[in-house]
Amino acid sequence: MKIGVAGCTGRIGSLVLKHVLGYPDLALGACATSPDSADIGRDAGALHGGTPVGVTVSGDPESLFATCDLVIDFSAPDATAEYATLAAARNVRLVTGTTGLSRVQQNCIHLASQKIAILQAPNMSLGANVLLALTEQLSAVLDAEYDVEVIGKLHRRKVDAPSGTSLALARAAAKGRAVDFDSHLEQQRVGHIGPRPRGAIGVATMRGGDNLSEHVVMFAGTHERLEISHSVLSEEILVLGAIRAAIWLQSKPPGLYDLRDMLVLRGASR
Ligand SMILES: NC(=O)c1ccc[n+]([C@@H]2O[C@H](COP(=O)([O-])OP(=O)(O)OC[C@H]3O[C@@H](n4cnc5c(N)ncnc54)[C@H](OP(=O)(O)O)[C@@H]3O)[C@@H](O)[C@H]2O)c1
Repeated sequence: MKIGVAGCTGRIGSLVLKHVLGYPDLALGACATSPDSADIGRDAGALHGGTPVGVTVSGDPESLFATCDLVIDFSAPDATAEYATLAAARNVRLVTGTTGLSRVQQNCIHLASQKIAILQAPNMSLGANVLLALTEQLSAVLDAEYDVEVIGKLHRRKVDAPSGTSLALARAAAKGRAVDFDSHLEQQRVGHIGPRPRGAIGVATMRGGDNLSEHVVMFAGTHERLEISHSVLSEEILVLGAIRAAIWLQSKPPGLYDLRDMLVLRGASR
């Protein structure tokens, strides 16, 4: 399978590039970054000190979709929305881990997924997706007597908040409770806010240092508290998840999938 790597000069994208180049069943078809990157024109293999592979870094999104079977994308929300539209037009599958998409940008993903198979996951690790499934299950068992709080702790470079994983966990809790997500989400707590509304799903954001990604879901009852958590200890786990997702997605019909579909963690309630 010929893979395109979007965001190939970034923290995660550069690791994806390294893994695609080293994976026996995958070939690098193209790679792209932002149009004003200083790395445009450089050989993808040499980018991180390896041997040249004859594929140069491009700033043109179209270049990703001309020759590839599937694109793996860890870039930025505006770029991801454009990639999804191009992927649908060129019949190229897409695995995307970019977070922080607006409703309009997310709608581009939904529209594109009517024509092609897309896997979108705010966290590509196995453990975080188990945490999502457990959060949905526990939220169904522990009723509104238990206050749900999601705490996302990430590194200082993270630009969108709450994290995509925090929002997915809050959505999973709303789904488990069978309540509307938007009207139960509580993320701004400043000043004289009054008592916590019953049934609210709280999301708190912490940022600092090089903490890769740590999420805690707390079910706070009257005489007890249950907490489940997940920590990413190396970004390798995210990249391996994305590569596994790419291989899984190549045989799938059009639709919008996430990692829980691949891991068969999805309840019947989807
Ligand atoms: N799903 C997951 O498991 C997971 C894990 C970690 C991160 N993420 C998400 O993945 C995304 C990238 O994270 P990162 O930490 O790798 O960020 P990063 O280091 O800032 O890398 C972003 C990459 O995207 C490129 N880019 C930025 N704006 C662009 C645009 N408008 N058009 C095309 N390319 C553009 C950047 O190029 P320049 O360097 O030239 O700007 C860079 O190559 C973020 O949304 C992050 O939240 C997801």
